[in-house]
Amino acid sequence: MALWGGRFDTPTDALVWQFNQSLPFDRKMWREDITGSIAHARMLGVQGIIPAADADALVAGLVTLRDDIDAGTAELPPDAEDIHSAVEQLLRERLGPAVAGKLHTGRSRNDQVATDIRLWLRGRCDTLKLALHGLRKQLVELADANPDAILPGRTHHQHAQPVYLAHHLLAYFWMLGRDESRIVDARIRMNLLPLGAGALAGTPYPLNRHMVAAELGFDGVFENSLDAVGDRDFAIEVTAACSITMMHLSRFAEEIVLWMSPEFGFIELSDAVTTGSSIMPQKKNPDVAELIRGKSGRVYGDLVTLLTLMKGLVLAYNKDLQEDKEPLFDAVETTELCVTLMQRMLSDAKFKKDRMLASMHGDFSTATDLADALAVDGVPFREAHEIVGRVVRGSIEAGVGLEDLTLADLQQYDVRFTARALDAITPTASANARTSYGGTARTSIDHQLVQARIALGL
Ligand code: ARG
Repeated sequence: MALWGGRFDTPTDALVWQFNQSLPFDRKMWREDITGSIAHARMLGVQGIIPAADADALVAGLVTLRDDIDAGTAELPPDAEDIHSAVEQLLRERLGPAVAGKLHTGRSRNDQVATDIRLWLRGRCDTLKLALHGLRKQLVELADANPDAILPGRTHHQHAQPVYLAHHLLAYFWMLGRDESRIVDARIRMNLLPLGAGALAGTPYPLNRHMVAAELGFDGVFENSLDAVGDRDFAIEVTAACSITMMHLSRFAEEIVLWMSPEFGFIELSDAVTTGSSIMPQKKNPDVAELIRGKSGRVYGDLVTLLTLMKGLVLAYNKDLQEDKEPLFDAVETTELCVTLMQRMLSDAKFKKDRMLASMHGDFSTATDLADALAVDGVPFREAHEIVGRVVRGSIEAGVGLEDLTLADLQQYDVRFTARALDAITPTASANARTSYGGTARTSIDHQLVQARIALGL
């Protein structure tokens, strides 16, 4: 049933009704819709806009309705246009039109929906933040549990310099920390009350918007009614933050997929988070990582949908805005699920430090250390680089790695090589040499872990 039948002669075309209807997806906000209505009704009573007894009846009716929907003893009417109409229809059935009909005084669905989305999204920001926090804690635990694993750090996807696995995992810790702060930041900006803006221009009733804001936990009210009903920046901000989070997760997921392949063999995921093949009996597939990587695409799509939706949209409310919900809901729910599953997948993952070490055999990833050793012994770094370049070329031709060379072998390239050079070229020595702040040396990582725990509030 429509809330606006008065001026129409003929009923709405069935297909138009279906096309216009948002209940199938905005029903997700039923609780927030009732919460907002309770605050509005209470304020109407306090302000004397409606009789106090009616306000009390409305509040009591809404509270009971909320409990009944929770308990499954009341159901949203499936033919309602949207969640706002559905709640009002249920209230009318219970309280009668004389009382229920007063709830919408000084309010429009335009300011109502803007309020509902903010209330819903605020809650999801809080759970997403918790999920991110959990994943970051997991990364710190993995860094602690694998203190001596070293893998080839890469640039251009080629072996570059050895780095501790803990250092690599903590890189994601800091990325996800920025994601967490983007969500917190967006939540702060979104926390203003649109209700009281009316359809677009405000209302003639002596509303107390600050009272409603306080009851609903908003930090303030919108200064401009057109902005209040026309703004969806907050949805775009959160979806953008989700997109960046998904981009981070997709990078990590890609590494996990690579590490799981036989060529790498750096990680073993548990049976509980992997799947098999219907034809190849030997398969154990990292589907969770692949799906996380894949789902990043759909969250980016949600962002582009929202940006395109808002582009060129004139003030104030336009029905286009109804299209904001599905991409927004999808983006935050997908992201939270992926963050949670990434943590689950990592929680019982086994890292293979022997395979990591073996992969660096003969890879020349400590060539920089060899040049640094010469430089410490007084050879200008540029010249040292040139000399070690010749060592690498000669070794490749001879089919040996740096670790196979003796001091005598090295001195054939340059007599200035000393025992320091041999000590420097193990992966452990190489990693531990990088003692700069934020570097991969064990001592630097220990400091980094202290900072990570502080960041987590541990
Ligand atoms: N279902 C609508 C939406 O999501 C609610 C607002 C309807 N406003 C209106 N003027 N028809 O945007």
